[in-house]
Amino acid sequence: MEPGSRAHLGAQRFAVPAIPGNAIVTQKESHTCSLVLGGLNRPAYETSGRAGPCLNPDLRGFEVFMPAIKRLYEVCKRSFSDNGPLSAEALEHVRSVLDDIKPSDVGLEDEAQKARGWNVSMHGSNGRKGRNGNNQYLPPIKYLHIYECESFSIGIFCMPPSSVIPLHNHPGMTVLSKLLYGTMLVKSYDWVDTVEPIDPSKARPARLVRDGQMSAPCGTTILYPASGGNIHSFEAITYCALFDVLSPPYSSKDGRDCCYFKKSSKEDISGVVPSAIRSSEVAWLEECQPPESFVVRRGPYKGQIVDTK
Ligand SMILES: [Fe+2]
Repeated sequence: MEPGSRAHLGAQRFAVPAIPGNAIVTQKESHTCSLVLGGLNRPAYETSGRAGPCLNPDLRGFEVFMPAIKRLYEVCKRSFSDNGPLSAEALEHVRSVLDDIKPSDVGLEDEAQKARGWNVSMHGSNGRKGRNGNNQYLPPIKYLHIYECESFSIGIFCMPPSSVIPLHNHPGMTVLSKLLYGTMLVKSYDWVDTVEPIDPSKARPARLVRDGQMSAPCGTTILYPASGGNIHSFEAITYCALFDVLSPPYSSKDGRDCCYFKKSSKEDISGVVPSAIRSSEVAWLEECQPPESFVVRRGPYKGQIVDTK
């Protein structure tokens, strides 16, 4: 990792601007998708969390008795390939299981309680404690890695209040995100199919898909390679945890690098964007380096374990 190099939001790597004292993660954990299971009613897995029957009507197999994270792993393994979701139905199965994941399944119940007790009016909205005026900054964003293989990755971003994950993309990827606790602002775009080809290395028009607040509990959102808001940013209002499933994962060798974007000063879309799209919906986005203040550290995952032995 070089100072000032591009940051990646994949499960396996972070190369973010070097700031003294930062413990940046560059480690790639290699897993295979192999798994040895026992009989239908005796799954041979280990877990550190609860194992109870799942009431989800979308699940019809042995996985109904599994702990939530193990269940998610099994469904992901069946639903994703190296090229992404196998079908729309398979993707819906993953969404359905992800919808049921709770902070307690991933060892974040205490953090969720902290988020529920967070009050912006008491602490200020700038990440400092407002009342005592000692300018005490909150901790950095943490990434809790759970699992990764060639087909998918699973992990959690834990964000303190006022922290920002800047506008970035997921090229060629499908992303399922479940906000486990907290409240955040979400902004997302998709590239517009322009009337004439545009040099992708310069500013490109993108259509606003979402610009609003999201609070837990809420359902899983899905971003597709070219729709659903594939280019997005998050700003935490309270303590937040965002559970991400990516398929396929970021991979430089396969052309799936994470890029960051900022709004260009360009505004005119006449003759560039189909006339059915209003200029108020469009922003010109250009690639940029992430801000130096953007720091992600690897954090310990304390939830249920995915055992692939
Ligand atoms: Fe993302």
